[in-house]
Amino acid sequence: MNILVTGVAGFIGSNFLYYYLRQHPEDSIIGLDKLTYAGNLENFRRLSHNEKARFYFFKDDICDSSRINQIFEEFSIDAVINFAAETHVDRSINDPQIFVKTNVLGTGVLLNTAKEYWMKEGLWRPRTRYVQISTDEVYGSLGPKGHFTETTPLDPHSPYSASKAAADLIVKAYHDTFGMPVLITRCSNNYGPYQFPEKLIPLLIRNALNHLPLPVYGDGKQVRDWLHVGDHCQAIDCVLERGSPGQLYNIGGNNEWQNIDLVKLVVSLLRKETGDEGINEDLITFVRDRLGHDRRYAIDSTKIRKDIGWGPKMAFGEGIRNTIRWYIQNKEWLEHVISGDYLKFYEENYEGRL
Ligand code: NAD
Ligand code: TYD
Repeated sequence: MNILVTGVAGFIGSNFLYYYLRQHPEDSIIGLDKLTYAGNLENFRRLSHNEKARFYFFKDDICDSSRINQIFEEFSIDAVINFAAETHVDRSINDPQIFVKTNVLGTGVLLNTAKEYWMKEGLWRPRTRYVQISTDEVYGSLGPKGHFTETTPLDPHSPYSASKAAADLIVKAYHDTFGMPVLITRCSNNYGPYQFPEKLIPLLIRNALNHLPLPVYGDGKQVRDWLHVGDHCQAIDCVLERGSPGQLYNIGGNNEWQNIDLVKLVVSLLRKETGDEGINEDLITFVRDRLGHDRRYAIDSTKIRKDIGWGPKMAFGEGIRNTIRWYIQNKEWLEHVISGDYLKFYEENYEGRL
């Protein structure tokens, strides 16, 4: 199989690249990424010789249908996994337009180009699949009880989650209208290696290692359901192989944490790992809350467990310790991926908060 993976240089895309090439020694990945601030070629540096031989990379935009069509023609693409997106909620509050462009328009262009290519032959090939990587954030916010299921109504609040919900509806329409074999996955918060340090966990690690304030939005009692990125990659692979076209699958860690408790855990593990007494809870700084901040996310993964047989494997205690070790051992990576763009974002986003 030749699989087109978009957003391959980002956090989950690059983890998926390693996972998939290892699991499927006969297959190749054609990677496409615009290389925004969030996409980094350094994420490919651990590919083995054999893996490199089955990986082709193109710096392109999912909004560019003629480039995508060329790639489909050149590699006779069998399946698409669309990770490419603008992904940071705070950026979507500061500048929503690029989220509409990439997440809504870009998904539409990619989907339509794939459909036109595959339909030229008149029939979908048996293994043809288009997988849209979505998020639990499209469901909005939960109260203290309950979980999101696949039938929970869409109720996104941020420009990011609204753009992801819009993309999901376009993808679904291509199934309902054209019979296109699409699948949609909606996952909870991921953690693990190669995550850009604007997101909570790597931001905490980077700031703590530099004895900088650890910003906690609002009262810190928001709840997120954390899943190791390796488990997410395995779930996507299972959906690609065994998911029923037209279906939607929630993916969660069954692992809810209040932000403030997670921050304290990261501080204590980091201090233990480094022996650095300067890393302590005095660094925790409560700051102005995020606008429209969703209070709680929690996923019900019953459907993917029953229909496909997937469940998370990585225990959180082990996953978070390994993740912290990875960032300590890859401090250089952390500093290299940070661009002027990130420093400007950090200054502006946290200005007057810290
Ligand atoms: P990320 O920001 O780390 O990576 C996104 C990648 O997309 C980057 O490499 C970026 O360069 C690329 N990209 C952006 N615009 C592009 C464009 N127009 N054309 C081509 N490439 C473009 O994000 P991530 O955390 O790896 O998320 C990947 C996907 O998973 C996203 O669709 C996101 O909505 C979804 N998701 C993420 C999480 C999470 O916790 N990180 C949870 C659920 C779902
Ligand atoms: P984030 O990693 O941005 O993921 P998402 O907003 O997609 O869930 O944030 C996770 C949680 O941590 C969210 O409730 C916002 C909060 N948060 C902070 O309290 N401080 C921070 O500096 C960041 C980046 C996030």
